[in-house]
Amino acid sequence: MTRLTPNSVVSVGNMRMPIIGLGTWMSTPEEIDIALNAAIDAGYRHIDTAFAYFNEAAIGSSLKKIFESGKITREELFITTKLPMPGNRYEDVEVFLKKSLEDLQLDYLDLYLVHFPAGMVNKDMSNIFPTDDDGKPMIDRSTDLLELWKGMEAQVDEGRTKNIGISNFNKNQIQKILDNCRIRPANLQVELHINLQQKELVSFCKENGVTVVAYSPLGSSGYKTFLEKGGISTEGARVLHPMEDPVIKEIAKNHNKQPSHVLLRYLIEYGVAVIPKSTNPSRIKKNFDIFDFKLTEEEFEKISALDRGEGGRILGGRGMVGFFNLLEDHPEYPFPK
Ligand SMILES: NC(=O)c1ccc[n+]([C@@H]2O[C@H](COP(=O)([O-])OP(=O)(O)OC[C@H]3O[C@@H](n4cnc5c(N)ncnc54)[C@H](OP(=O)(O)O)[C@@H]3O)[C@@H](O)[C@H]2O)c1
Repeated sequence: MTRLTPNSVVSVGNMRMPIIGLGTWMSTPEEIDIALNAAIDAGYRHIDTAFAYFNEAAIGSSLKKIFESGKITREELFITTKLPMPGNRYEDVEVFLKKSLEDLQLDYLDLYLVHFPAGMVNKDMSNIFPTDDDGKPMIDRSTDLLELWKGMEAQVDEGRTKNIGISNFNKNQIQKILDNCRIRPANLQVELHINLQQKELVSFCKENGVTVVAYSPLGSSGYKTFLEKGGISTEGARVLHPMEDPVIKEIAKNHNKQPSHVLLRYLIEYGVAVIPKSTNPSRIKKNFDIFDFKLTEEEFEKISALDRGEGGRILGGRGMVGFFNLLEDHPEYPFPK
């Protein structure tokens, strides 16, 4: 393993993505400015957002001020956003991406991801999870991943994004894109943490030159609150506490670090980028502080053994309580593959 530093990147082709980025799901517009400034000051040069997080406009106005202050330039920052499910068709990609760029006050993105392989009806752009009169999700079963990908490729041609990728896709869906694309997906963003290590999928991506970003790397402790706020029952929802794991605590103690450091350090040593979310300035700073220690081989193996496979999935899969599984009826519903 080459030495990991705050400037380390995961790369493919011309894409150089900083190995740690700031996650912003559930970060409210009011919280964004403080969070972004704390992140930039701490050394983050990578920001992850999505149309569906409803904070792109706040990120845009905060970034504008940050760039104007001369703290950093646009070119020094790596910015990812995502196409929401109602945009999952060729002609809608451009419409949604233009709106994201307008809100983010940017000329281009570094990475644009298809957020989820399943599409929904595009009832009205501001409604990213449309439901019918009976409250049922308006799934668009006609999602054509190859046509959608052509729409993504067109955005690279138009210069709106430097790279394109996918999120929450399974191996078969990625293979289908790889077999038919003109521009290869540069990145896959998936749920990935010590309890769901996605070893087969990560190996597959490495073999195929697709970089991987681990979302919910700390175990997404805010997810239950998110479901409750959305009126989704949390009864039976899987809640895991990777930061409380005795193995992680013990290893943290060995290095005089916090469990959160060990969770993130393991993932970057494993070869993926991480995007921990926080809006708390001291936790934002703390999460970046993972470059002054290294896991021993034995510690790495112990953490590797904490993988529970599908039993470690938190955000939802077929038959699980959660948000994603509201789309189980879609032919491209991905988990498990
Ligand atoms: N592509 C997708 O479908 C998808 C899905 C989920 C997430 N994501 C991306 O991945 C990012 C990260 O995932 P996530 O937000 O689900 O979960 P996460 O980063 O694993 O955990 C975030 C939660 O942990 C808390 N936290 C952060 N640092 C902490 C620390 N050092 N000690 C204790 N608690 C800490 C945060 O609260 P505070 O804010 O109060 O610190 C927040 O509640 C998202 O923000 C988003 O950008 C993408």
